[in-house]
Amino acid sequence: MIRRQFIVGNWKMNGLRAEGSARVRALAERARTDPPSCDVLVCPPATLLADIGALLPEGIALGGQDCAATETGAHTGDIAASMLADLACKFVIVGHSERRADHGETSALVRAKAAAAQAAGLCPIVCVGESLAQRRAGRTRAVVAQQVARSIPERQNGHDLIVAYEPVWAIGTGLTPSRAEIAEVHRAINAQLARRFGAAGKAVRLLYGGSVKPANAAEILAIDHVDGALVGGASLNAADFWSICEASRTRR
Ligand code: PGA
Repeated sequence: MIRRQFIVGNWKMNGLRAEGSARVRALAERARTDPPSCDVLVCPPATLLADIGALLPEGIALGGQDCAATETGAHTGDIAASMLADLACKFVIVGHSERRADHGETSALVRAKAAAAQAAGLCPIVCVGESLAQRRAGRTRAVVAQQVARSIPERQNGHDLIVAYEPVWAIGTGLTPSRAEIAEVHRAINAQLARRFGAAGKAVRLLYGGSVKPANAAEILAIDHVDGALVGGASLNAADFWSICEASRTRR
């Protein structure tokens, strides 16, 4: 089976309309002149989704950064998964560590959001990852295993779920785990999903996130069970983001 890697740009809370549109025009130009050999997704702030969606070329998908756990109703400020789907989103990030930290999101809530995303026809990208204190205490594997167990929905078919391993201490810091440390966690997540879901679990794509840059992308993307990258800071620069896409490889 050919497994294309998946490079995701998480723009976080950055950019007004003009800036977002300029960035996506630059990406569209790169995609035209230098088509990627990986799947590419951009996740702009919700306010930019309609603009960016209208400008995206074929071959670059659109995603949200979060969705509500419920479908509709009196939830001021929340955005339902179906509303993202209505804007042509195909994916949504859920359980990012910034949402877990800033908004107190629990793994149970993240699981409900992921299930709501699937019900709306979106593929959730469920984020997990340990803090620096947890790593120093030697608890990385246990913390990640528990987050995976509790944050992913009951059902998935291998193609309607993506898991992103993002060590909290690596996000936006310029620090990354060693190759061996990334490999160990990804192997463990793959085995855990296989135990729980069989072949469908094995098929779930696993992304690494946390200070992925053009300079380290090829090395990270070459690690076993790393099926792509979730890129924050470097996704705000079209040239940097594209060189990360170019560092991806096709797996058989
Ligand atoms: P970073 O963010 O690439 O800026 O470290 C990654 C993320 O939070 O998804």
